[in-house]
Amino acid sequence: MASFSPRVFSGMQPTHTLHLGNYLGALKRWVQMQESHDCIYCVVDMHAVTVWQDPADLTRAIREVTAAYMAAGIDPKRSILFNQSQVSQHAELGWIFNCVARLGWLNRMTQFKEKAGKDRENASVGLYGYPVLMAADILLYKATAVPVGEDQKQHLELTRDIAQKFNTDFAAQIAAHGHGDSFFPLTEPMIGGPAARVMSLRDGTKKMSKSDPSDYSRINMTDDADTIAQKVRKAKTDPDALPSEEKGLEGRPEADNLVGIYAGLADISKQDVLTRFGGAQFSGFKAALVDLAVDKLSPINGEMKRLLADPAEIDRLLVDGADRARAIATTTMAEVKDIVGFVRAR
Ligand code: TRP
Repeated sequence: MASFSPRVFSGMQPTHTLHLGNYLGALKRWVQMQESHDCIYCVVDMHAVTVWQDPADLTRAIREVTAAYMAAGIDPKRSILFNQSQVSQHAELGWIFNCVARLGWLNRMTQFKEKAGKDRENASVGLYGYPVLMAADILLYKATAVPVGEDQKQHLELTRDIAQKFNTDFAAQIAAHGHGDSFFPLTEPMIGGPAARVMSLRDGTKKMSKSDPSDYSRINMTDDADTIAQKVRKAKTDPDALPSEEKGLEGRPEADNLVGIYAGLADISKQDVLTRFGGAQFSGFKAALVDLAVDKLSPINGEMKRLLADPAEIDRLLVDGADRARAIATTTMAEVKDIVGFVRAR
């Protein structure tokens, strides 16, 4: 087996503003991973346009997500931070992978079925090919690990299938060009953390989502302290006191969610939270959660505002990140062209 040096890649779509689910479920872990890994974080604007986006809103959202990444602690010097559309190799490798992936594989993708809904004939071809572009994002950098939510697991499996088929289909050329027995790694998903799934504040059985019509269902990364406090206070609960054991959260989705949010923000386990608050009424627990949430989120919020006041500086940072991403992507793409048998400039 060829060996690949560890590299993390992940991305988020620039659609609407980010919320607590994005922060606890993704960004917080991305920030931590910088300590131990070589990391590349992408604003996947080409994925965003698989469904219609108002161009002015899209531009704003790209800058906003970039600001959120940095405000949360992603260091653009240490990691590579860029927006996908500035590195044309994503589209190029995506095309090669369109020719590697099989229709049967894509037909099984549950997210396409959900997103396309009943009116499938009217979905864009890009939405159907979305997971193939995602495989290109990851494999362009030969990333070995991808921190993602549970909902992206199937796309990661497809990424592995594509890598494997490419490695097999071109085994002779891969060896002949000096890449050993595999050109692409079989990328591992990294799923987990105490708050990997943050649920709606209005309904503990539904994921916290940017598309929920009620703004009280989520805490946005742009919410100020008063708004955060109001939303936590209004969050749905049940009439019982908090249990002292995790088992006691079973069948109590709203309680489970608030305890998970506390644990995620405080960087402790749910059991730790219950050891402290077991037997407490929600009123008391919520007051503590408000303090914690405001304490953790308002500095991020303030930093986002500061960054967004200078969009030109954000754009400069993205250009710089794209230059560094492109340096890696250019090498991979040239090697892919050789392996596939294309003629290219030297
Ligand atoms: N599909 C991912 C999501 O919606 C976003 C994404 C695009 C991504 N390309 C990626 C995530 C590559 C990780 C790696 O969350």
